[in-house]
Amino acid sequence: MTAIELPSYLEKSAAVSARFEKLKQREVILEVKQLGKQFDSQQGLVTALRDINFKTHRREFVCVIGPSGCGKSTLIRILAGLEAPSSGEVLLDNKPVFEPGPDRGMVFQGYTLFPWLNVKQNVMFGLEMQGYTKATAESEALNWIELVGLERFADAYPHQLSGGMKQRVAIARALANKPRILLMDEPFGALDAQTRSKMQANLIEIWRNIDITVLFITHDLDEAIYLADRILVLKANPGEVEELIEVSVPRPRHSSQVISPEFLATKKRLEELIHPPGPEDDTDDLHMIRMTHVGDDVEIME
Ligand SMILES: Nc1ncnc2c1ncn2[C@@H]1O[C@H](COP(=O)(O)OP(=O)(O)OP(=O)(O)O)[C@@H](O)[C@H]1O
Ligand SMILES: [Mg+2]
Repeated sequence: MTAIELPSYLEKSAAVSARFEKLKQREVILEVKQLGKQFDSQQGLVTALRDINFKTHRREFVCVIGPSGCGKSTLIRILAGLEAPSSGEVLLDNKPVFEPGPDRGMVFQGYTLFPWLNVKQNVMFGLEMQGYTKATAESEALNWIELVGLERFADAYPHQLSGGMKQRVAIARALANKPRILLMDEPFGALDAQTRSKMQANLIEIWRNIDITVLFITHDLDEAIYLADRILVLKANPGEVEELIEVSVPRPRHSSQVISPEFLATKKRLEELIHPPGPEDDTDDLHMIRMTHVGDDVEIME
C-alpha cells in the first residue's frame, strides 16, 4: 500500500497567503510581550510561562494548545487580569492589563452560572453591575439569549439546563458586556462529543455575526483546527511558544473538512509538535499479573 502524500502545511495557495496577509493588516487587539510567570510552590520556584510573545488581530480566532501543565490556564488568567505576570506585559487596545475588566469576557470549563438566578438574570447580572437600568439590562440580555438560541429558556434555572445550554448562557453572559476579546479556557471540555461539535458550530456562527476576537484554549486538535485562524502551540517546562500555525483550511468551515488535505496536514504538524517522537512506548514492559484462571482466552487466536 502506498502512503498518502500530504502537502506540507506550509505550502499555502496564493488565496490562503492573501487571507493571512489581510488578517495581519487588521488592528491589533491583544499584544502579549515577553510574558513570564513563576509560582512559588512547595517544590520550589515553578516557571509556568517564559518569554511569551504574540499578537491577536481584530476578529481573529486564535486557539491555544499544548501539553497539560504548559501554562495555558495561567496565560488566560493573566490576560483576564486574574493573575499578575512576573515579567512582561499584556496590552489590550494598547492599554496595559492590570485587573479584570468588562473589555474581556471569560468562559471556563466548569459551569459558573449563579444557581439562584435564572438564565435572564444571569445574563443581566454584569450589565446591572455596569450601571445599566433594569429595563435596558433586560432587553440587552434577551438579545444575547436569542443569539445563543435559548429564548425559550430565559426563565429557566441552571439546574434545569443541559451542560451545553449552560455554556451557551455563559457565552451570552460574557458577550453581553460587549468585550473586545472573549477568553475561553476549554469551555467545551466537559461536554459529550455530539454536543461539543454543535457548540463549536454555534460559536463560529456567533463569531461570524459580531465584532469579537476570540482566544480559545483546548486540548483537542480537531477542535482547534475547526475553529482557529491561527493556533498558538505551547510547550511545557517551562511554558514557551513552540509555534504559531496558520490554519489553511478554507472558511466557512464544515465538519466534512476533517478529511481534507489541509486539515490532515495541519493535524499531522500539530501532532508532531505536541507528541514529538520519543523513546519507544514502554507499555509493553508493564508487568502482567493473571488474576483469573478461566481456561479459554478471550482473544481467540486463529
Ligand atoms: N497557583 C499556583 N501555584 C503554584 N503553581 C501553579 C499555580 N497555578 C499553576 N501552577 C503551575 O503552573 C504550571 C502551569 O499550570 P496551568 O494550570 O496553567 O497549566 P495548563 O496548561 O492549563 O494545564 P491543563 O492542560 O492541565 O489545564 C503547572 O506546573 C502548575 O502546577
Ligand atoms: Mg488548564
